[in-house]
Amino acid sequence: MGEDAPGSVQVVPEDVVPAGMGALSELSDADIARRVQAILDDPDHWVDDTDEDESRFSLGGKQGKFALARIGDAWFEPNGRAPSTHIVKPGMALASGRTDNDVQAVEFVTMRAARALGVHAATVDILDFAGVPAFVTTRFDRRKDRDGVVRRIHQEDFCQALSVYPSLKYEEDGGPTMADMMRLVAETSSPWYRRSDLQAFADLFAFNLLVAGVDAHAKNHSMLHAGPASRLAPAYDLISAHGIWPADRVKYRSAAAVRYGKERKYRQISGRNLARAADLLRTPRDEFMARLDELAARLPDAVETSVAELPAGLATDRVARMPERIGTFAREIADRALGEDLSHKAVPRFEGTLAIGQPDAARVWEPGTWRRKEWVMGRYRRRTRR
Ligand SMILES: Nc1ncnc2c1ncn2[C@@H]1O[C@H](COP(=O)(O)OP(=O)(O)OP(=O)(O)O)[C@@H](O)[C@H]1O
Ligand SMILES: [Mg+2]
Repeated sequence: MGEDAPGSVQVVPEDVVPAGMGALSELSDADIARRVQAILDDPDHWVDDTDEDESRFSLGGKQGKFALARIGDAWFEPNGRAPSTHIVKPGMALASGRTDNDVQAVEFVTMRAARALGVHAATVDILDFAGVPAFVTTRFDRRKDRDGVVRRIHQEDFCQALSVYPSLKYEEDGGPTMADMMRLVAETSSPWYRRSDLQAFADLFAFNLLVAGVDAHAKNHSMLHAGPASRLAPAYDLISAHGIWPADRVKYRSAAAVRYGKERKYRQISGRNLARAADLLRTPRDEFMARLDELAARLPDAVETSVAELPAGLATDRVARMPERIGTFAREIADRALGEDLSHKAVPRFEGTLAIGQPDAARVWEPGTWRRKEWVMGRYRRRTRR
């Protein structure tokens, strides 16, 4: 943990007041390349703990990564307190031949295609740092004010928001279902964002289904909280399994991160299940089917354009085949809905299941407070009945 963490959290020693400002030290492309290389060389030790105080940085997720601040065209190391503006996810040095880990190329292609199709997704790029390519995403939990000062916006992933342990991020392990996630957005999103957030989230489920985004678990969705307003964060960490696994594995043996209707396995997600998913996604069934149809039609071009945007040498054979493979896969799924009777008479309205319980109504959280210069920790207390 540290002073520049996900969202607006800053973790400091007991007697230290968290500061918004901090020093920035400029990094050359070669400096950044060295950090990228260090993660590639030793992916398990990507938290830089060589620095006593200078580099308090923390981000979730399994892949090695670090955060930088960008001002104009220059890159800076935010020394602790100063907010970073970009996240660098290395793990992709195909050009130098050191690893065959092309996940970042696949993530770049999937994210770019999503944006091109109108899915609300974070901005991503693959930049060249002195010959070393790295995946860079612009932080959506930072905002530059008119005075040029970068402010932190709080973010909470869906596990945090639902008080679910990270180990339960997948539905199959007892984690949040599609119904849980939709309910979270419906209940958390501010009234003026709610409608568009629910629509954007439904659209993300449609996209992730058609590209086989098998990793769309509860920690890969977040809410943003700025002052009194809450809204769904842009989509991130979108990765099509078609860029990673053989076609047959995706088609016959893979499953979505959550159930669509009653099924998770792609080969079992029938038209009836798509109708059920539409119910959970609060979208009229015919509208949802029309969107699947449209996405399936436009995906091959969108993916192809994104592959063409990859820096030279980064498209492996499998990445180059993504447009065609995703196109075929998406068309097959979308077609399951066509020609089937998906009326409410044929498929009763589907309620789905919630896996995550309501907070314990018998207990209330009493926030921590300063009392006579002593910090009194927050705690749960029994709700007193009146
Ligand atoms: N563009 C962004 N802006 C702000 N925060 C982000 C952004 N992209 C990712 N994050 C944050 O960083 C965390 C980790 O990112 P991400 O999910 O991309 O990493 P990962 O290592 O691929 O994760 P996983 O363990 O799911 O493979 C996310 O949960 C999110 O909180
Ligand atoms: Mg992730």
